[in-house]
Amino acid sequence: MRIVQISDTHLSPREPRFDANWQAALAFLKELQPDLVIHTGDLALDGADEARGEAELAHGAAAMAGLGDNALILPGNHDVGHFPGMAQPVNAERLERWTRLVGPDRFCVDRGGWRLVGLNALLFGQAALGGEEAACAAEAAQWLFLEAALDGRDGRPVAIFSHKPVFVERIDEGETGYWGLRPAERARFMALCEAHDVRLHASGHLHSPWIGQHAGLAITWAPSTAFVLGEGERLGASGRSLGLVLHELTPDGTVDSRLLAVPGLEEYDFSRIGAEIYPADVGGVDAGPLGEADRPKENAA
Ligand SMILES: [Fe+2]
Ligand SMILES: [Fe+2]
Repeated sequence: MRIVQISDTHLSPREPRFDANWQAALAFLKELQPDLVIHTGDLALDGADEARGEAELAHGAAAMAGLGDNALILPGNHDVGHFPGMAQPVNAERLERWTRLVGPDRFCVDRGGWRLVGLNALLFGQAALGGEEAACAAEAAQWLFLEAALDGRDGRPVAIFSHKPVFVERIDEGETGYWGLRPAERARFMALCEAHDVRLHASGHLHSPWIGQHAGLAITWAPSTAFVLGEGERLGASGRSLGLVLHELTPDGTVDSRLLAVPGLEEYDFSRIGAEIYPADVGGVDAGPLGEADRPKENAA
């Protein structure tokens, strides 16, 4: 089974440059003819904005219609918001807007001898950080959803797709704020993965591709199709390119993941265009619940 993972398209009616990149990716996808396409979030440039989120998410969803019914789309922080205390926290309104305009924020499907599970990464940590009631309820429901998906895998190997990476530099790292799972949720998540034959975790968010593994778990960070981050704008060391990922999953549980360059993608650098695409009223004013001065800006990925 060939799955193409795309991520961080950051589409917007006010950003024709990322639309053009998406059209190049779409043409490439049509040639590749994968069995399934999975988008790991940040579909929209600013779908979490109160005023323009509706138009941004609708624009992103319309662009994905070019994939037909062969695509599963997960939300990123720029689609449904992020931690409480940040400028755009996950709340009932943002979750409803995603569901109405794009679709479910999680999935569990069986394909090619595998169980494929998609999660809304932005729910993890809501309860611990005092998130809004709807966000906490959605997080609790998603833990149950994940546990049921893993319990019901019926011998199939499992691949999990989600916007944020499990870790950024090390599995035992502390809080990375904006970037990876928080330590408490990471420990709970990894215990489930280890108990249930999870073979692959594939995420986006970092705009910086990497293919590696941890204790037998294959790990992929997909590149964006829109922009790369400049030096010092993210944590950890990984690649710096646009593109997509081809995952070949065989029924015996083998994972072969490769980064693919997409002909015609124009590489934009956040350090050059960040202020333009995320004006000061959108983000960059709040480093999140930790408030560390040395953390990258909220709007970076
Ligand atoms: Fe993101
Ligand atoms: Fe992103």
